[in-house]
Formats: sequence, structure tokens, C-alpha cells
Amino acid sequence: MYKQGIYTVMSNRRIAADVYRMVLSGDTQYLDRPGQFINIKLSGLYLRRPISVCDWDKETITIIYKVVGEGTARMAAMTGGEELDVLTGLGNGFETDFTKLLPEAGIRKSPEGNFVFPDGRQVTAAVVGGGVGVPPLYALSRKLLSEGVRVIAVLGFNQEDQIFGYRDFAELGVPVCLTTVDGSVGVKGFVTDALKNFEYDFYFTCGPEPMLRAVWNLGKERGVEGLLSFEARMGCGFGACMGCSCETIAGPKRICVEGPVMKSGEVLL
Ligand SMILES: Cc1cc2nc3c(=O)[nH]c(=O)nc-3n(C[C@H](O)[C@H](O)[C@H](O)COP(=O)(O)OP(=O)(O)OC[C@H]3O[C@@H](n4cnc5c(N)ncnc54)[C@H](O)[C@@H]3O)c2cc1C
Ligand code: FES
Repeated sequence: MYKQGIYTVMSNRRIAADVYRMVLSGDTQYLDRPGQFINIKLSGLYLRRPISVCDWDKETITIIYKVVGEGTARMAAMTGGEELDVLTGLGNGFETDFTKLLPEAGIRKSPEGNFVFPDGRQVTAAVVGGGVGVPPLYALSRKLLSEGVRVIAVLGFNQEDQIFGYRDFAELGVPVCLTTVDGSVGVKGFVTDALKNFEYDFYFTCGPEPMLRAVWNLGKERGVEGLLSFEARMGCGFGACMGCSCETIAGPKRICVEGPVMKSGEVLL
């Protein structure tokens, strides 16, 4: 269920090269899962611009976006107080109930409230993000921790000046491994160059499609399932235009409604 509303820009701060964190105030009751997105109307531009929700509370929505074109450049120029027409509550978001994610694995809640396997071992989830695919994994990590899942994060960027957000994960208590393509910080290479050194029972990933494909392939090699969030080009953003449809093993699906989060077993990459 999505909702159109007017939201006020509370703050808009540069946090890395061409990357901004914007806080909007307004009605957040239609957001119910990490991994959902909002769709922002910008005057003079025909199509709304979809951006993932990084975090939200009763009155505010936080987004993190990279300036890549006219729409995001206009957003970056906002100084606070502007009013934006926004659709919220879009997309399916990440499922976090492991009895549903891995129904065959016999996972249950322990008396301490943790998701555990039949032998009592706690479930470990890897959250794997690249660039502006990192933001939705923040609220997801907090939710997973609150539901008794052990979380590790592998966050990939091109170079040092583009890194953001990892301290927020660390403050949640999530161990963070950084990768950079140029090797300026952390592990040199792509997220999978670091991820292959970790043990995990399930993965949640968001980022550019080549990264999603690499994480998906590593999962297939190891027999580990996951959820992947796609950032496809979109038209309407709420299911009406078919502009975002992608092929799955069950036929075409609209990324804006049946996604952006898809199961590793259903995508064709
Ligand atoms: C579900 C979803 C969630 C997203 N979440 C975020 C987010 O949290 N933070 C963020 O920075 N961006 C996110 N994006 C991408 C964001 O929507 C685009 O970067 C934005 O719409 C570009 O608008 P623009 O007017 O600045 O650029 P445009 O002028 O429209 O395009 C400029 C350049 O960016 C490319 N581009 C535009 N849209 C996309 C896209 N969706 N995917 C890949 N390349 C694109 C174009 O091909 C072009 O080369 C998300 C996209 C989707 C579909
Ligand atoms: S963007 Fe229109 S159906 Fe998905």
C-alpha cells in the first residue's frame, strides 16, 4: 500500500563525494519494512526519482542518494524547508523472518529470542552493499539484530572519498568489512573478494547489478540463499506502466511492486 504526501526537507548534508543524506518529515505510516523505497517528484521533471529508505521513525524518513543527473542534482541543492511531493510505502522490502526465508532448515526462536538452527547455532546473515545500495541495509541490519540474527556487513565502494555509512553499522554492533576497487581502504577489489572469506547462512544484498550477480554466483557455489534488491530504471513506480519488468523463473515481474527485493532462487541474472 503506497501513499502520496507532502514532505518537508529537514536537513540535507553532503556525506561523501557526490553523496548526500536527506531527512524528510511527514507521514511514515505506510513504511513497514526495510528495503522499501520512496518516489520523489521534482518540478519540471516528468518521472519521479526512486530512492531507498535508509531509515525511518514516526515522523521522519532518511534517504542517502548520489548525484548522477538532473533530478539528484536538484535534490542536492536543497538547503532545508523545501516541500516535496513523495510517494511512500513502495516496494515489498526485505523479509526478516527466518522461518519463512529458510522454511526447510528447521529454524526456530530460542528462549533468548534468537533465530537458531535445530542444533542451537544462531543464524548469521551477511548484508552486502555496494555504493548507494548500502543505505537500505542499515535499517535492515537493525531489524535483523532486534530479531536475534547475527549480522556481518561487507560494504563496497570505488575509492576512499566515496565511502559513507560504515560507522552507523559499527554503532549498531555489526562487524563491518570495507572493500574499495582501488584498494585505498580495506580489502582491495569487489565485495565478493571479502565475502568469500566469511561464513554466513543467508545474504541480503543491494547495489549495482554486476555486484548482485557476483554475490548471487558466490551464493550458488556455496549453496547459500539470499534476497537481492534491484535498482532498475523505473517509470511510474507503482505497477502501472510495466517499465521496470524483469524476467524471473516464474515469468516477468515488476521490480517496483513484486520487488525491488527478489529471492535468489527466482532471479535470472
Ligand atoms: C528501487 C530503487 C531504489 C533506489 N535507491 C537509491 C538510493 O538509495 N540512492 C541513490 O542514490 N539512488 C538510488 N536509486 C537510483 C536513483 O533512482 C537514480 O540514481 C535517480 O533516479 C537518478 O535521477 P537523476 O535525475 O539524477 O538522473 P538521470 O538524469 O535520470 O540519469 C543520470 C544517469 O544515471 C543513470 N540512472 C538513472 N536512474 C538509474 C537507476 N535507477 N539505476 C541505475 N542508473 C540510473 C542514467 O542511466 C544516467 O546515466 C534507486 C533506484 C531504484 C529503482
Ligand atoms: S515502474 Fe511502472 S510498473 Fe514498475
